[in-house]
Amino acid sequence: MKRMLITGTSGFLGSRIIEFYRDRYEICAPSHRDMDITDQEQVWEVFHDFKPDMVIHSAAISDVGMCEREPERSGKINVDGSRNIAMASGEFHVKCLFCSSDQVYFGSQVQGPHREDEKVIPRNVYGREKALAEAECLRVNPECVLLRLSWMYDTRTLKEEEHGDFFRTLASRLRTTDILSYPVNDVRGITDVGEVVRNFENCTELEGGIYNFGSPNDRNTYETVSAMFEELGWDTARLKRDEESFGSAPRDISMDQKKLNACGIAFPSTLESLVENMHGLLF
Ligand SMILES: NC(=O)c1ccc[n+]([C@@H]2O[C@H](COP(=O)([O-])OP(=O)(O)OC[C@H]3O[C@@H](n4cnc5c(N)ncnc54)[C@H](OP(=O)(O)O)[C@@H]3O)[C@@H](O)[C@H]2O)c1
Repeated sequence: MKRMLITGTSGFLGSRIIEFYRDRYEICAPSHRDMDITDQEQVWEVFHDFKPDMVIHSAAISDVGMCEREPERSGKINVDGSRNIAMASGEFHVKCLFCSSDQVYFGSQVQGPHREDEKVIPRNVYGREKALAEAECLRVNPECVLLRLSWMYDTRTLKEEEHGDFFRTLASRLRTTDILSYPVNDVRGITDVGEVVRNFENCTELEGGIYNFGSPNDRNTYETVSAMFEELGWDTARLKRDEESFGSAPRDISMDQKKLNACGIAFPSTLESLVENMHGLLF
């Protein structure tokens, strides 16, 4: 059995990576306490003792607001911690997959869908940290595969305390009579986390570099939900356009998939997955 090291396994993505790969790989999933990624020595010891074939690095401060409030702490984890993982991967010749984010494109002067070779000038602390982490990972280990993930959701809740997501929030609001309001000034891929997790395995042969990694979507969030309603034959009367969110700075962080597709990896569109998942949940 091949050996997989996973960071961030108490989190939303990490817990699903373990669930999917635990029968097919020998897994090492150290907790934050067992391997603090900011502690270079601890990281080195885990690599040395476990001798992984690959690492999926998902640990981070992923809360955008927290990065704004505590940039020093988040920078240590998101940038320095990621550099430690990339460096150890280089030293031990381990394929490293790093979870970056589409938020690096927030602030870009270029129209979406965005390409990996675009110059990014991220508007928020989280996006800046992810962009810096990408650069640092590649500097210390050019074989690193840096995956720019979009907004992920699951149809299931794995742990009570885990943060909510687009799909489960929408599904629970559907059970009420509330008006459903979604932003018209935000264009972004929204991806089933199961697709992300499954596709990680296809990334081990990728050349080092940056890859957009998620479902394509060229609709704003309001249009996305409207299109889903229409596909499912539902009445769109309870949907409302939210003109305020991102009103002063419209956001389009949609990602171009050509580079990934050329490597034989493809995600279904956001709409396709949402319709299928919603159908599966309700019927
Ligand atoms: N969720 C999304 O929609 C999304 C979208 C784009 C990109 N991403 C990226 O995907 C990755 C996973 O996201 P997520 O939503 O699963 O995040 P999450 O739920 O917030 O989980 C983060 C994980 O990182 C761990 N961690 C934090 N600081 C650490 C440290 N110093 N040492 C070791 N572990 C540490 C946390 O452990 P403790 O809780 O024990 O501290 C937790 O297990 C992140 O890199 C995130 O930036 C996520």
